[in-house]
Amino acid sequence: MISEFVSREDTMLLNFGYQGIMSCIDALVNRRDAIVYDAEAHACRVDGVRLHMGNRYAFKHNDIEDCEKQLQRATELAAKNGGGILLITEGVFGMDGEQGILKEICALKKKYEFRILIDDAHGFGYMGPTGAGADEAQGCQQDIDLYFSTFVKSMGSIGAFISGPKNVLKYLRYNVRSQIFAKSLPLMIVEGMLKRMEMVKAMPELREKLWHNVNRLQSGLKERGFDIGHTNSPVTPIYMKGDVPEATQMVMDLRENYHIFCSIVVYPVIPKGDIIYRLIPTAAHSDADIDETLTAFEATKKKLDAGAYKAVEIPDMAEVS
Ligand SMILES: Cc1ncc(COP(=O)(O)O)c(C=O)c1O
Repeated sequence: MISEFVSREDTMLLNFGYQGIMSCIDALVNRRDAIVYDAEAHACRVDGVRLHMGNRYAFKHNDIEDCEKQLQRATELAAKNGGGILLITEGVFGMDGEQGILKEICALKKKYEFRILIDDAHGFGYMGPTGAGADEAQGCQQDIDLYFSTFVKSMGSIGAFISGPKNVLKYLRYNVRSQIFAKSLPLMIVEGMLKRMEMVKAMPELREKLWHNVNRLQSGLKERGFDIGHTNSPVTPIYMKGDVPEATQMVMDLRENYHIFCSIVVYPVIPKGDIIYRLIPTAAHSDADIDETLTAFEATKKKLDAGAYKAVEIPDMAEVS
């Protein structure tokens, strides 16, 4: 069902996305091969690349010129070693919400010989005309050799899959260690996924509602002067300034007093003094939910700017006693 949905020959279910893609990367390359990958890789791909015994080249996030430069280096090395090149990137980047530059990377196939694996954890199920993912949205499915996604985002479940050519999938079934030496997905989860897939295919109104909510939230934030970067997906980062205690106070205020739950990204993931709030609307949100969120952010941002969340000084207990 998934193969047909993502327009690939074959698909293998994976028990977890993290271990799955890590092990797939491990299985796909040997020491003679080179890996070229976007530097802003999710931890699971970083770990997969770390397992690689051969050379690896990171290119600057979504930078096509640097990507080509790294491909050139990898091509020289692969020719010398008699190996191949695997390029790994993401469909929709989960932190900044920007789509990967898939179309531009695919165009480089005319100049260099390499294969592409994309992690579309954040694009599967809603991007593109049928919801098949970021590569469908960018019209380059044929040039993406291997398509990976998890079921933990738009599908709200657990597990993952990888799709691609029949011969590669056959090879992976016998070589992906995280599948061979661990329990596979429980059948009840697989049954649940079949139902979700039916809904994704039969209910395009869910996708329409999602994009309506995304546009309402993102345009509302921009109108109120919030910096949401260059997102072109439902992943909505809000960039603010403040220290870690202030961010913690603000997110607690949002949750306890405005009933808005959202996650924050702070130092040491990003530089000191920066705060990123990450909002991801779903098809289940209503216009009233979005408007309430906008009002809450407007009010709490004013408090942040006025220094209302500055941490209370904790007295030195030795002096107190
Ligand atoms: C981009 C990306 N890839 C892979 C994973 C790992 O997937 P899973 O949670 O199914 O292990 C995640 C997080 O869930 C992710 O954000």
